Amino acid sequence: MGELAGAGEIDPREAAARRRLSEIGTVLPVVSSKGGVGKSLLSTVLALLLSRRGYRTGLLDLDFHSPSVHLILGERGEPREDRGLLPAEVRGLKFLSVIHFSGERPLLLRKEGISSSLLELLSTTRWGALDYLVIDMPPGSGDELLELLRLARGAEFLVVSTPSRLCRESVERMVRGLREAGARVAGVVENFSSSPSAWKGVRLLGRIGYDPELEGAVGRVERLLQTSFARDAEGGLEEYLRG
Ligand SMILES: Nc1ncnc2c1ncn2[C@@H]1O[C@H](COP(=O)(O)OP(=O)(O)OP(=O)(O)O)[C@@H](O)[C@H]1O
Ligand SMILES: [Mg+2]
Repeated sequence: MGELAGAGEIDPREAAARRRLSEIGTVLPVVSSKGGVGKSLLSTVLALLLSRRGYRTGLLDLDFHSPSVHLILGERGEPREDRGLLPAEVRGLKFLSVIHFSGERPLLLRKEGISSSLLELLSTTRWGALDYLVIDMPPGSGDELLELLRLARGAEFLVVSTPSRLCRESVERMVRGLREAGARVAGVVENFSSSPSAWKGVRLLGRIGYDPELEGAVGRVERLLQTSFARDAEGGLEEYLRG
């Protein structure tokens, strides 16, 4: 918090958020500079695969404008309040989404905006001891990302791209930006991949091909884990876990 020294108004929630995040082995935000590249599907499948491998895994949907992980899981569960917020338990995952607080129960989304809501969420959620916390992020480098960079210093960012040159160029820029901000980049996953491609300056963790069965598996976890998307994602996960 040195950079804020002198401001005289350090938010006590920041220390709480950092303390809670420090209980987590690896915070793994799934990001991309572009929208619609498969971040939500990939983060959900990765969390399910990590859990299946026996890792204590949490899944956090931080897409304030269009949360979708609950749709992919097919259920959202209910977080509970007990000296803080206990995430829902869904399919062996500890799951929390902005959907739990929007609409009918505006518990966290206050007027101050996304940064404050995110701080509130990270400072009050009791994930407990987790091996991995996978975070589904909104596209781009907005407040959610900036806030996370501040609060989860050790996070390893997993960047999703497509083979399109337009996407690759902006993803490469994002990787540089993350590194300049002092963040760790775990690597890139290329989705909608069709032919072998080389990535320079960033580790390619895996390639996921177009999967015509994927849409039909949204909301059905067993089926989702049997898709070629999940199989390809598991290849990327194994590469990541090799370190
Ligand atoms: N490999 C794939 N094969 C077929 N369809 C895919 C594949 N990857 C993603 N999709 C589809 O593309 C759409 C976008 O995926 P998803 O919502 O995961 O992207 P996103 O990056 O999270 O988008 P946003 O930026 O809006 O959050 C979804 O309809 C999803 O089913
Ligand atoms: Mg998404």
